[in-house]
Amino acid sequence: MTDVLETEGLTKKFGRLVAVDDVSVTIDSDDITSIIGPNGAGKTSFYNLLAGQYEPTEGTVRIRPRDGDELVDVTGKPPHEINRLGLSRAFQINNVFEGLSVVDNVRIARISREGRTLDIRSLARDDTELTERAHEILELTNLEEVAHEQCENLSHGDVRKVEIAVALGTDPSVVLLDEPTAGMNPTETERMVELVRSLDETTDTTFVLTEHDMDVVLGISDRILVLDNGELIAQGTPDEVMADERVRKAYLGIDDSDGAAANDGAETGRGEEA
Ligand SMILES: Nc1ncnc2c1ncn2[C@@H]1O[C@H](COP(=O)(O)OP(=O)(O)O)[C@@H](O)[C@H]1O
Ligand SMILES: [Mg+2]
Repeated sequence: MTDVLETEGLTKKFGRLVAVDDVSVTIDSDDITSIIGPNGAGKTSFYNLLAGQYEPTEGTVRIRPRDGDELVDVTGKPPHEINRLGLSRAFQINNVFEGLSVVDNVRIARISREGRTLDIRSLARDDTELTERAHEILELTNLEEVAHEQCENLSHGDVRKVEIAVALGTDPSVVLLDEPTAGMNPTETERMVELVRSLDETTDTTFVLTEHDMDVVLGISDRILVLDNGELIAQGTPDEVMADERVRKAYLGIDDSDGAAANDGAETGRGEEA
């Protein structure tokens, strides 16, 4: 077991709204981890804290750099620096240049990883190693056939794969996927699940995802973290989490104690003044 990411007391407040509330978790490189929770639970805010888009109100984030053994504190660092250290993010942020080919998108990701200036000349340069590695990533993500297509001509499913390929372009230790199957039909969904599974096996990268499709979550996850009202209310294997009473109540809407009166005054008033 190796930790790749760790938060301690991570908290984000927007005025009186606590979007992420004192979350302490450890993510293991052996696991595919899913973060679930109802709409507004704080999943995207949690990602924004990990990737540096939001600065925490309290708490810390530590990640394992791509070439390191020890976790390093990245709390409050800007997104590009956290990305360079080893955390990449795909989806819900636009990381694909539509006017460029698939392979050039991945080459750009690698150029930025090396901290080189991003201009059109660096793309035109004949950099064999860079290009070879980009094609390797396209092989892994089943994109080699469309390597020279402009991204604007690709299907939705392929664009999402390019987003993953671009995220992998920096050789990250962790990739955060935000709803990887959103907007996909059942066939595309099944392919995406297969892809993440195979990438988990063939690369040194650890995958974390948020996902609302419970079939996907249960089919892909080694470990599940459950957020509700910004709080981590449960974590464990799929079986453990699905058997958890708070999860059944808060997330699945199943009240084992039977009856509306058993609501024990749960705070439901949040977000009204946001
Ligand atoms: N930039 C922001 N400013 C104010 N409130 C925000 C901001 N980002 C998120 N929130 C609030 O934080 C809560 C959690 O949102 P979010 O992280 O998007 O949840 P999820 O991704 O689980 O649906 C919501 O009540 C949302 O309105
Ligand atoms: Mg979200």
